[in-house]
Amino acid sequence: MKKGFMVFVLFVFVLAMTACSSKTDSDKKDKNAKLDIFSWWTGAGEEDGLKALLELFEEKYPDVPIENAAVAGGAGTNAKAVLASRMNGGDPPATFQVHGGAELNEGWVAAGKMEPINDLYEDEGWGDKFPQDLIDMVSKDGKIYSVPVNIHRGNVLWYNKHVFEENGLEAPTTFDEFFEVADALKAKGITPLALGDKEPWTATQLYETVLLGVLGTDDYLKLWTGDLSFDDPKVVEAAEIFTKMLDYINEDHASRNWQDASQLVADGEAAMNVMGDWAKGYFVNDLKKVVNEDFGYITTPGTDGKFMVITDTFGLPKGVSNADDVKKFLSVLGSVEGQDAFNVLKGSIPARVDADVSKYDQYGKDTIEDFKVSELSPSLAHGSAAAEGFLTKVNQAINIFVTQKDVKQFTDSMTSAAAELK
Ligand code: BGC
Repeated sequence: MKKGFMVFVLFVFVLAMTACSSKTDSDKKDKNAKLDIFSWWTGAGEEDGLKALLELFEEKYPDVPIENAAVAGGAGTNAKAVLASRMNGGDPPATFQVHGGAELNEGWVAAGKMEPINDLYEDEGWGDKFPQDLIDMVSKDGKIYSVPVNIHRGNVLWYNKHVFEENGLEAPTTFDEFFEVADALKAKGITPLALGDKEPWTATQLYETVLLGVLGTDDYLKLWTGDLSFDDPKVVEAAEIFTKMLDYINEDHASRNWQDASQLVADGEAAMNVMGDWAKGYFVNDLKKVVNEDFGYITTPGTDGKFMVITDTFGLPKGVSNADDVKKFLSVLGSVEGQDAFNVLKGSIPARVDADVSKYDQYGKDTIEDFKVSELSPSLAHGSAAAEGFLTKVNQAINIFVTQKDVKQFTDSMTSAAAELK
């Protein structure tokens, strides 16, 4: 009787385990079968382009289930940490947003986490369809690791046209002009420059545009190879100009994000802000503002003829079970149709050289032309210029600098952080 009972308990246990393990397997299978597309494009100004791209993919491949696995937070503030834990925990997304340059090459490629996709480039005939500069940003040792979906420009000064017109002002092209305009606005009780550095990368982005404006492209590039020191007098001058600009920002900058800061400009409460051209997507799609009527754009002071490049790209992580489906997604993302569906809404320009320019507004058309003739430089704030570890230190130093405005302390912090760049 007792033995019979034990056998019965064992039988029930084995049955339960089998049910349990087969459930886990099928769950796993479902999860793996879904193409989870990881990015930080959620909400205002960010998600419209992604949605259009996902819809296009679903039209082309209705049998491949996809999941929008976006994690909110500008510039990947939260997404990058979630991604790291997934990648390092053996649970990579099917594909993920990653900036071309150091973030991809010195990050995930160097860590051995990405598959090369030269075969996809060959199959799709992409060799001459993307600018060589961009292909270089997504390649390491001759192997290509991702497909650029766009080119964003970082050195843009956006301004409220009505505020400028009403006050008889011209958009500034130099730092001297910037401070003249800023003084005139301040005298009228208008916040000259909007900043929302609740996420510190926005202040880092403002700072890097000042670096580019003061140093020029060649010296700006030398900063990231360790060939120009942060205590060089010209670099210190850039820090001084940056602090001076901070005298003209909104008081509540630390509680705003980039959208909230851009909104100040759209509403005419502030006159200008420096932001990548995802801000254009936000002005137009979300705030219903009209390019060149409600808001204008110009390169940030001293950066005419220079283009701070930010490129969002997607690749194939090692260890995904649905690599063929991932490649299908990448082929749509890299197609003319995919790029034009995405970029018209995102504010960026297409990465492809043969996209349909007529689909873009005046800002897009101007930027497509500018990209062809400008000196290109990678953005630090958006991960292309230097590895993530250095960027984290810069964001911390900038965050302290914005409140303390101590140029000497900031220069020391940057100089010691830069030791790892050599
Ligand atoms: C990305 C853009 C995005 C912006 C704000 C940048 O790092 O490259 O695509 O719109 O962050 O989140």
